[in-house]
Amino acid sequence: MEKLNPEYIMRCPLVPQYKMYEDEIKRAIETVLSSGHYINGPNVSAFEEEFSKYIGCKYGVGVNSGTDALIMALWSLDLNKGDEVITTPFTFFATCAAIRQLELTPVFVDINPDTFLMDIEKVGALISPKTRVVLPVHLFGNVVDIPRLREIVGKEIYIIEDCAQSHGASIAGRRAGALGDMSAFSFFPSKNLGGYGDGGMVLTDNEAFANTIRSRRTFGMKNKDVFMEHGVNTRLDELQAGILRVKLRHLNEMNSRRKALASHYGGLLNPDYIKPQKIENGVDAVYHVYSCKCPDRRDELAGYLEGNGIQTNVYYTSAISDQEAYKKYYSRKFDLPITNQITKSIISIPFYAEMKLSTLEHVAGSINHYFSNIR
Ligand SMILES: Cc1ncc(COP(=O)(O)O)c(C=O)c1O
Repeated sequence: MEKLNPEYIMRCPLVPQYKMYEDEIKRAIETVLSSGHYINGPNVSAFEEEFSKYIGCKYGVGVNSGTDALIMALWSLDLNKGDEVITTPFTFFATCAAIRQLELTPVFVDINPDTFLMDIEKVGALISPKTRVVLPVHLFGNVVDIPRLREIVGKEIYIIEDCAQSHGASIAGRRAGALGDMSAFSFFPSKNLGGYGDGGMVLTDNEAFANTIRSRRTFGMKNKDVFMEHGVNTRLDELQAGILRVKLRHLNEMNSRRKALASHYGGLLNPDYIKPQKIENGVDAVYHVYSCKCPDRRDELAGYLEGNGIQTNVYYTSAISDQEAYKKYYSRKFDLPITNQITKSIISIPFYAEMKLSTLEHVAGSINHYFSNIR
């Protein structure tokens, strides 16, 4: 049920960010509306250029969503049905939906209990003659060590980074999204860089992949009368691109605020009860959500906070491999003890770039209060 209480602390309200950049966003919208150019216009090409440059890639191809970015990236590899993609079971369902959309077979590797990221040291044992792609997810704004993953998988297996939650994050000074063969970004409204509708982009340094995706995103169309190959309609629109160009100019400042807030939470929360996601040395994380491990009484804590006007969420309540949807397609049994343990203990607490320090301190205080009173 919708909460009407103005004091209610939402996990991630979206209006405060709009209010912060309202004038610039309205100007961008007005410019697009009065230009008469709504699809594949100057804002889309400018945003493709600006965002690919920001991440550190040569080519950017805007598409309709992060899910489509994953699908288009995988599709451009022209794989065979049943080829295997090694990925994490601890991610949003879309990662796996994209794999299945191309009738590829997901193979799940367990996660690290502290970073919640794919355990790359376990990837090698899962490689089979059918493995063509590894699809790591930079979960919650943390970054998978792609250079190390490359050493493990070699050059023959493609790496596609799922960057839906990691805009601006980096490892050893290189941004997530510029580390593998291709990367897929989502601009869903709640993302670190989010529009006011759906949107996505594939980034790559490979010109052939970029050209294939650019062609297939508009029916393989060369011009209005000539169609060169099978394609679909998956485009980023001018309005979203115009809005995203404004927000990209503020992405570093929004991410800096997230980092400062995360560090403040880290100093306040008692790690004996609630332990924030671990960020490895060399990683500059961007805290898409603030997720913690709470092995004891996670659901009771959530109930207590809700009763006190504080919203929490669980990302994710089960391993994707346990979802009914794709069970019949798996080629092997998976050994995922850590994922199964983390789904039972993880919790996301209120967190967004515009969050006031006093709100954060109230949330942290409520969590500490809960634990100090039950022991
Ligand atoms: C890890 C991950 N992958 C893919 C997606 C799909 O993005 P979109 O919602 O833009 O299709 C999302 C976002 O919701 C996500 O969190």
